[in-house]
Amino acid sequence: MASGLIPPEIIDEIQTRSDIVEVIGNYVPLKKAGSNSWKACCPFHNEKTPSFHVRGDKQVFYCFGCHKGGNVFKFVMEKEGITFPEAAHLLAGRCGVDIPENAPGTDPREARAAANTRERMYQLNEEFARFFEHQLLRYPDSPAAQYLASRKIPPEVVKQFRIGAAPDSWDAGLRFGKSLGFSEEEMLRAGVLHHNEERRRTYDLFRNRLTFAIWNEQGKVVGFSARTLESGKTNSPKYVNTPETPVFKKGHLLYALPFARQAMGNTGEAILCEGQLDTIALHRAGFPQAVAPQGTGFTPDQARLIRRYDVKRVLLAFDSDNAGQKAVRAALEILLPLDMEVRVIAIPGGKDPDELLRTAGPEAVQDAVHHSIPFLQYMRNYYASIYDLNSPAGTGRALESLVEILLLLENPVLRELYLKEASTLFHVGTDALNAEMHRRIQRDRRRIARPEPVQSPQLQKKQQDAFGNTMLTLLGLALADENIARELADAMPPEYFRPQLPDQALNQVIACAINGEFNTASDAVSTLLNGSDPEADGKIARLLAGDNPFSTKALQRKAMRECLESLQVMRQRRSETEILAELRRATDPEKKMALLTELTSLKQKTPPNS
Ligand code: GTP
Ligand code: MN
Repeated sequence: MASGLIPPEIIDEIQTRSDIVEVIGNYVPLKKAGSNSWKACCPFHNEKTPSFHVRGDKQVFYCFGCHKGGNVFKFVMEKEGITFPEAAHLLAGRCGVDIPENAPGTDPREARAAANTRERMYQLNEEFARFFEHQLLRYPDSPAAQYLASRKIPPEVVKQFRIGAAPDSWDAGLRFGKSLGFSEEEMLRAGVLHHNEERRRTYDLFRNRLTFAIWNEQGKVVGFSARTLESGKTNSPKYVNTPETPVFKKGHLLYALPFARQAMGNTGEAILCEGQLDTIALHRAGFPQAVAPQGTGFTPDQARLIRRYDVKRVLLAFDSDNAGQKAVRAALEILLPLDMEVRVIAIPGGKDPDELLRTAGPEAVQDAVHHSIPFLQYMRNYYASIYDLNSPAGTGRALESLVEILLLLENPVLRELYLKEASTLFHVGTDALNAEMHRRIQRDRRRIARPEPVQSPQLQKKQQDAFGNTMLTLLGLALADENIARELADAMPPEYFRPQLPDQALNQVIACAINGEFNTASDAVSTLLNGSDPEADGKIARLLAGDNPFSTKALQRKAMRECLESLQVMRQRRSETEILAELRRATDPEKKMALLTELTSLKQKTPPNS
């Protein structure tokens, strides 16, 4: 986080001088709700009755509807779609705090360069986006322009999606960047240049390719995906992407998200495609809720990203080839544990959405989307293509595999519903399915030395969440009572705290308490809410706003003891979970044995009744 680049005392100063009520009041009309609290209709989600609260005394905001919350920096970051340092500068300007160019104690040149790195990287990417766009428009007969014409993408779409062309040159980009005052090093760091160690040469990464600008959630260009202009097999990769940079983290980016956010919010739906061209095709056919991962598989972080927009249903628009099947399966593993409804869009003739649009027009695409099928139905069709579902053996194989998917559902109601649906689809009783599910659980148990619950990704996530929730409860208790905070200092060794929220917030409160500065604890915690984990920020803001479920001191102490106990148990279980997960992935027998031994020795250290 670049916040460290602005000296902490300046951040404090900005926070002290900015009244959150006044700042938020500039964006939304606030109504007085209590002696020191205000409310309004939430500016972050659509609502008719106000559930957005602002506390003057604690200087926090929290929405009970969408669970967004945090301090004044957080609000400005969210509302303006800017980074923490940007929000700090904005607020500093408003409240008249001067952010010094050269902070004392740091090398001024270094500090300035670092503070500017991200901003420069955005600028550089923006300039390169313009450069590529310009190349395409300026040379209408170039191979890139011709290729584009062959893909039938009209000018207004080229403009909206900022499609461009990287010239057929080793250094056109390099020279362009230099002409704007960007150094070679900056261009390397932003990923537009590539350094070849063997040949000791630095040259343009994108050459003779069609370029797609990639935006972050805030709509800033952070990198590119560039397609070869050649069709058929070539030696060079089909797509070249910006490598990981401080602003381009591909696991967190979804293509076209800035265009899709609103549509996702309105429809409660997201369409997940394989790549840029398919996403564009869906947008053109009237589905702006389409997005795509960035040249990798769909990640849990991306799932969380779309969930922020209240997406309840995900339609998968993958290829119908082998890789597409695998991608559906992988997406199910991420989406089902999040209680998302998953449907699959089948494209007739094994085409992809882009090809369908080109060959059959938007109506054909709309038709395909409107005929999406529930994932269970999709799985049935898939099994029918690889097994003989008319034979008991074939059905058995299919159900065995299906049950693995159903086990991803932890929500008992959903599982029950899907089980019923599966029973109809496969013509087997729900009892048989239930039995198969149990058999599967038993088999997993027998595989490892001692009984162990099935470690679905869902369960692993739940255990992580449970750990975080316990930390959160302790944080609430520590904030409410200085003595508890002091006691926790002794009861919780440093290795208990993971390097993230809410653990670090609790660590902070404890530090304040033992330093005799308990009265500054709330403020110290609120500076930690910097937007890197919005969910945790929201929960912590709620605690800072005085939400404490334990009414008496006795109850508080009891809760503290219970939390400490369960943390101890969970820490043990967590490492077990990690070993088990590795065991499941391991293929090498040696490695498996080693892991089993590790697991056994771990269990011997565990007290028998935990
Ligand atoms: P055609 O339909 O064959 O013209 O190709 P396409 O441009 O639509 O791409 P394709 O369907 O083959 O691939 C879909 C997505 O997968 C692309 O948008 C990329 O994000 C990704 N992809 C494909 N090939 C590569 C590659 O070589 N490298 C990387 N990093 N990603 C790729
Ligand atoms: Mn394609």
